[in-house]
Amino acid sequence: MSETAKLTLEGKEIELPIVVGTENEKAIDISKLRGETGYITLDYGFKNTGSTSSAITFLNGEKGILRYRGYPIEQLAEKAEFLEVAYLVINGELPTKDQYDAFKKAITNHTLIHEDMRHFLKAYPRGAHPMGIAASMICSLSTFYPESQDSNRSEEERNLTIHRLLAKLPTIAAWSYKFSQRHPVVYPQNKYDYCENFMHMMFSMPTDDYTPDPVIAKALNKLLILHVDHEQNCSTATVRVVGSSQANLYASIAAGVTALWGPLHGGANQAVIEMLENIKKDGGDIDKWIAKAKDKQDPFRLMGFGHRVYKNFDPRATIIKKSADEVLEALGVDDPILDIAKKLEKIALEDEYFIKRGLYPNVDFYSGIIYRAIGIPTEMFTVMFAMGRLPGWIAQWKEMRENGEPIGRPRQVYTGENERDFIDIANR
Ligand code: ACO
Repeated sequence: MSETAKLTLEGKEIELPIVVGTENEKAIDISKLRGETGYITLDYGFKNTGSTSSAITFLNGEKGILRYRGYPIEQLAEKAEFLEVAYLVINGELPTKDQYDAFKKAITNHTLIHEDMRHFLKAYPRGAHPMGIAASMICSLSTFYPESQDSNRSEEERNLTIHRLLAKLPTIAAWSYKFSQRHPVVYPQNKYDYCENFMHMMFSMPTDDYTPDPVIAKALNKLLILHVDHEQNCSTATVRVVGSSQANLYASIAAGVTALWGPLHGGANQAVIEMLENIKKDGGDIDKWIAKAKDKQDPFRLMGFGHRVYKNFDPRATIIKKSADEVLEALGVDDPILDIAKKLEKIALEDEYFIKRGLYPNVDFYSGIIYRAIGIPTEMFTVMFAMGRLPGWIAQWKEMRENGEPIGRPRQVYTGENERDFIDIANR
């Protein structure tokens, strides 16, 4: 028997269907509400609004559960390869060996970017933020593959766009960094796997031989997996809304990249390191910074703390914290910032303010410490996040199109002036 919710409005009772997900998540379907009553719902920041139903990622914020297509994040982070997880989220199942080999080959075949796009890079000013470059370069891909602008393409053509995106983002990311340094770009090499190839393009110099370090490649693989998808977050919801207008996949992903850039979302990983550096420079008085975070008159927030959904712990942060210790030890790196981060976490977790509001370290709190240890510059951190999140954005875009979802178009409650007559400029 399907359940309904009853709502009484202006003395009239209406029934609204209840939708139950496979993990017993419950929603009231209000899609007919306005038509039947004239009312809409109002929910700033979508704190309580489901915009879709999705079979990709399950997340339980109270219990700290995260699963991609049913597989726990802990198992995937420990045992899988990033491209294997990318295949999983995009196609719904783990690949067989043959499927995986074909997928990897397709991606390896598309890692080069058009030489004309390389020339774009020269036009960016020194110090241009790599997120700005990445977003515009991704959008520019649509102009080099104009057939992609018809988003109602065959499955084969759509897969080609997916392979191109996955293949080219590491090249775009590494090249944007090389250009920011005014160093020559390094071309991808097919002998490397996904993470090694990125490291090769980031760190090889014409003057030196470079061999990707397996410790770093493993750490990178894990970090990318941890970022693959996170259901309807700010950037993913953006990708789905942009894609719902039938904008092409490149344009939709570029929109996701810009949404990710903000410090309240993916940009937090850069902001965390800058915050920890500031605390260190300021003498390392952690109590002072905790007090600032609690002071409502002070705009400072503890970056890397708090999450819209996780209210006990972020399972990705737990894995990353452990990994940070392992990577720093394996590389022999002693980073004083890690000590500050741990002290900050300890004090915050014992503080009534943070306990009461369910504020815990999120995925971004420790990820920057690993990126630093493996030689990634701070401004590249959010681009690293984008590389990890790309398969999730693709999967969500594909699901939304395959479900034939309508264009995303929220309503509003108008609070402006009522109708008034135009006044000629001479009389104003
Ligand atoms: N430091 C201090 N106080 C905080 C913090 C923080 N990091 N985060 C939330 N709070 C406080 C708020 O001031 C608010 O307090 P109040 O109830 O007294 O007004 C309460 O906790 C609830 O916070 P909201 O901002 O309403 O929570 P929301 O769900 O809207 O925001 C967010 C979540 C944006 C992640 C927030 O916790 C934040 O700004 N954190 C810091 C930035 C960050 O790390 N972002 C990365 C998130 S993970 C990701 O996107 C990949």
